[in-house]
Amino acid sequence: MSSAVSWFVTIATLVSLLVFFLILQLNKSVSRPGQTTGHDYDGIQEYDNPLPAWWYWGFMFTIVFGIGYLIYYPGLGNYKGVSGWTQVGQLEADQKEADDKYGPIFAQYRSVPVEELATNPAALKMGHRMFINNCSVCHGATGEGSFGFPNLTDSEWLWGSEGATIETTIIGGRKAAMPAWEGVLNDSQITEVTEYVLSMSARPDVDQALADKGQQHFMTFCAACHGPEGKGQTMFGAPDLTNDIWLYGNSRSRIEYAIKKGRNGEMPAFANKLGEDKVHILAAYVKSLSQ
Ligand code: HEC
Ligand code: HEC
Repeated sequence: MSSAVSWFVTIATLVSLLVFFLILQLNKSVSRPGQTTGHDYDGIQEYDNPLPAWWYWGFMFTIVFGIGYLIYYPGLGNYKGVSGWTQVGQLEADQKEADDKYGPIFAQYRSVPVEELATNPAALKMGHRMFINNCSVCHGATGEGSFGFPNLTDSEWLWGSEGATIETTIIGGRKAAMPAWEGVLNDSQITEVTEYVLSMSARPDVDQALADKGQQHFMTFCAACHGPEGKGQTMFGAPDLTNDIWLYGNSRSRIEYAIKKGRNGEMPAFANKLGEDKVHILAAYVKSLSQ
């Protein structure tokens, strides 16, 4: 935290401890043992006695304890405390303990190929849990995907369906590079190539004359990644454009938008977060989803 905030926290904490202490002293000095306060609640009167000793000392103890705690642990702004304890250190120690304990359970599957592991119920159960924790935010609880996040249960793969390839995807992440074409193609050319893309998946509402013109643009600008027949190429993460599976929606306007503005879907890398043993099991789980 900034030093201004640090000072604010430090001073506010110490001042409130001091105020607690002073209130306790005040209670002791202004009370009049044996006399009433003069308040009268439905005929019930209140003695103006000081706090009972056990209460007073109990309070004092919490103040002393608080000061000791604030010296030992970090609590006063940026002051680190004499113990050297940190939240990150604690987390790392806990993680190491968990890794030592559970690591071997994950490691035992490392030598089994992904394809074979994808039929192992025990491994799939672990994979399912890890998927829910790490992947479902984007890919959905059952891997069904959503706008911009690929469905992992279908037959189309942007980057490839081999077990080893799926593992590479999860370990290193992926970044799709579909360029924006609005600076290269003018509006009518974009309309034409959009029509051609629609015609590739045999849509009934296609204007064939426009599509025929669009084919040239496709061959010039798009075939390098999407392939001359639009079947896609996993080397570039370029999707098959000839089927009914669309990452960014199937309407004419969505497809035109993708062509105009480009698309750059990004799959985060999990090597550091999960480690390769867990990723291996996850790859098997993902593989099992489409089988
Ligand atoms: C922050 C969102 C996000 C999270 C979390 C995420 N992914 Fe992804 N994932 C994506 C996106 C976006 C893509 C598509 C990248 C692209 O457009 O090429 C993708 C692609 C993939 C692919 C490639 C699919 C194909 O068709 O080739 C696999 C496999 C995959 N993710 C598995 C996982 C697994 C397993 C996890 C959990 C460990 C995970 N993802 C977590 C966003 C995410
Ligand atoms: C450099 C390689 C490359 C070129 C060239 C390229 N694309 Fe793409 N295209 C991609 C990639 C990669 C994706 C996937 C984007 C993502 O996953 O975020 C994609 C996605 C798309 C999509 C969206 C598909 C969906 O499922 O929603 C359309 C439509 C598309 N491209 C059409 C075209 C057209 C038309 C051209 C030529 C004008 C073209 N692309 C040129 C790589 C390319």
